[in-house]
Amino acid sequence: MRKLFINGGNPLHGEVEISGAKNSALPILAATLLLDGKLSLTNIPLLNDVIIMMRVLRSLGLRVEYCEPDTMNVWINSKIRHVAPYELVIKMRASFFIIGPMVARIGLARVPLPGGCAIGFRPVNYYLKGLETLGAKVEMEHGFVKAYAAKLKGAPIYLDFPSVGATESLMMAATLAEGETVIENAAQEPEIVDLQNFLNKCGAKISGAGTQTIVINGVNSLKAADYRIIPDRIEAGTMMTAAAITKGDLTIKNFIPDHLSAVIVKLQEAGVEVECGKDCARVFAKERLKALNIKTLPYPGFPTDMQPQFTSLLSIAKGTSVITESIFENRFMHVQELKRMGADIQIEGHSIIIEGVPKLSAAPVRASDLRAGAALVLAALCAEGETLINDMERYIDRGYEKIVQKLSKIGADVKEIK
Ligand code: EPU
Repeated sequence: MRKLFINGGNPLHGEVEISGAKNSALPILAATLLLDGKLSLTNIPLLNDVIIMMRVLRSLGLRVEYCEPDTMNVWINSKIRHVAPYELVIKMRASFFIIGPMVARIGLARVPLPGGCAIGFRPVNYYLKGLETLGAKVEMEHGFVKAYAAKLKGAPIYLDFPSVGATESLMMAATLAEGETVIENAAQEPEIVDLQNFLNKCGAKISGAGTQTIVINGVNSLKAADYRIIPDRIEAGTMMTAAAITKGDLTIKNFIPDHLSAVIVKLQEAGVEVECGKDCARVFAKERLKALNIKTLPYPGFPTDMQPQFTSLLSIAKGTSVITESIFENRFMHVQELKRMGADIQIEGHSIIIEGVPKLSAAPVRASDLRAGAALVLAALCAEGETLINDMERYIDRGYEKIVQKLSKIGADVKEIK
């Protein structure tokens, strides 16, 4: 069990490089099931979730190798197995993305139901309804979803909610379906645009990703092509918040500021200075920050994956802030831990009310999920004393590549014990 010790109070200074996007790497790796041939994906972050997806693909018969510093080589042949292993899928919900490409490619998939997790129930009904609309039969069998179709048929799909994973999985399925599929009320996240760009490079005919309507014209086959994953906007947003919470002065390099518009506007509203370049931003704060209100929404709204980090930031801002979580029903597990560090926060249904306190103080804490872990790291960076964060590998290592090295380089007093 890896433990992280952070001695708070150092303002972060200097430059930090952002890694590739976990939430792009995962669907793009799943999409390799649709292809023929060999490809290299670059800017892949070496994170626990990415390793799980690599194992899932290997279990289905693909050869997948990781090469330092950031490349994943994948060899795909036509002998793809149809059963995804229970032990892997229950570890990471994103493994369920494979159901769409598997049915499209081999006509049959048996994938375990992923179940809920620390942030909510997270059902998969939109995936299944969408696959049925494309002509697949879907059955439940001993905890596994069995989906099959000799050939999927393009159709109009309306998503009741713009689910990121369902949009991605159905988009992948439709690339090899017969005819045209139109996904309405699709998720618009930058990772969906990245998936479209990758699949189009492999010969798919997809347009509209990044808007509410995605049009996919099915093709007979797709050929593997090399691709570079976009930078991780949530890692970049977390580093921006780290600069703000420590009253530091950081230059965050290698990310796309346009992907973080809502976060940047909210940082500025709180009194943080943000100077954006084309692929970088300087972020600094001198005064005590101001309270503000936030509601998480699907992209381009404020990302739920930045909500816990902003909870930490606003817990030391001047005044009362309200954060409303509208994506996940249970994403306030970090609140209890922040209270142990002296934060004054009340939970009221889907909202939290934060009364800013002048400072936080160190305490032993435990994360419930990846972004809760990030929130605790941020709180620890500004707290008085040494905070101990337990179970890093189960949480922080899932989404932040080389976090200890990166934070040390910009002046944090942080060490890990294995
Ligand atoms: N939902 C359903 N039915 C479905 C699918 C989703 O009810 O069939 C609900 C979920 O329960 C949730 C909401 O819709 O309440 C949004 O879920 P969505 O499907 O959009 O999320 P996801 O695809 O499972 C991705 C990211 C998450 C991120 C969300 C929202 C990946 C691998 N994961 O999850 O990232 O929070 O979109 O933006 O892309 C993280 O990185 O920490 C993380 C949790």
